[in-house]
Amino acid sequence: TQQTITVIPGDGIGPSIIDACIKVLDKAGCNFNYEYADAGLAAYEKHGELVPQKTLNLIEKNKISLKGPLTTPVGEGFTSINVTLRKKFKLYANLRPVISFKGTRARYENIDILTIRENTEGMYSGLGQTVSADGETAEALSLVTREGAERIVEFAYQTAIKEGRKKVTAVHKANILKSTSGLFLKVAREVASRYPEIESTEMIVDNCCMQLVMNPEQFDVIVTTNLFGDILSDLCAGLVGGLGMAPGANIGQDCAIFEAVHGSAPDIAGKNLANPTSVILAAIQMLEYMGKNDKAALIRNAITDVIESGDRTTRDLGGEHGTTDFTEALLERL
Ligand code: NAI
Ligand code: MG
Repeated sequence: TQQTITVIPGDGIGPSIIDACIKVLDKAGCNFNYEYADAGLAAYEKHGELVPQKTLNLIEKNKISLKGPLTTPVGEGFTSINVTLRKKFKLYANLRPVISFKGTRARYENIDILTIRENTEGMYSGLGQTVSADGETAEALSLVTREGAERIVEFAYQTAIKEGRKKVTAVHKANILKSTSGLFLKVAREVASRYPEIESTEMIVDNCCMQLVMNPEQFDVIVTTNLFGDILSDLCAGLVGGLGMAPGANIGQDCAIFEAVHGSAPDIAGKNLANPTSVILAAIQMLEYMGKNDKAALIRNAITDVIESGDRTTRDLGGEHGTTDFTEALLERL
């Protein structure tokens, strides 16, 4: 049967990179049915809501969504749409792989790092956010549960085995954040002891930032809490040529949303400058999640060939072309 995917084009550069991505999926012969849904500023302007109920229903119904970046208006009364979706659909694992391609602005040649970020707890729990009446004191609750920590670390080891990876590094700040990071590290050590076939290491987050910049080849899988994972994964994107190269998968029990790590890039929106690689790599994650590894490999080979040969690459990759030319080069390969 033909699989239906919920597609959320999103804001800014979203519609153009999603359009490129759908063309690539179709050309690769994926034969999906797509149901389009609004979210973000686009939805707010049309329906007066950032995430209309109809969109939530489609995400729930089809189980698999492909999503462009969403702009959350800054200011009171707007909670982040991405945080809302991750919590609502219990998308507890955020997988953010980065791979270096030759001939790009990647700073190192042999990077293949998968950051697995806990996606529903930690500093982004959304709990206990208060500002005192005089506006002088602000608080927020960081939450780590044994259940949440065990689930994400288990997920990291299972993914490492599935992908033939060798090493898992738990990143924490247990020396200072004794309670929250302390519990995360304790649970990470327990889970690590159940996987003797995988090399387990641990690292304090600030040192990890330095190590990633100085010697990134030492990393394979990184597993960490929400805030650290958010920041480390952007750092990793910088190592391989920028946010245009960084995809992300939000995975829960039976629902998943695939997206680019970057935002709506208002500075380049509408100028045909966006690199669609991030969201196409997210679509590859989606294909692998669905077990369609042959299609995933087909598209990955096309991307590698276009980027490494420098054929019509976008400016962020050091080329001189736009979204549409780059996409055309990909479609020709497929
Ligand atoms: P951003 O990720 O949109 O842009 C940061 C920089 O990277 C900009 O210079 C941009 O031009 C560049 N960039 C991003 N994607 C690119 C691509 N595909 N090709 C070439 N260059 C690219 O971050 P910013 O400016 O902090 O946020 C803009 C908006 O996006 C905000 O409203 C924010 O809330 C939202 N956002 C949404 C996310 C999501 O939906 N997953 C994630 C992060 C931010
Ligand atoms: Mg982020």
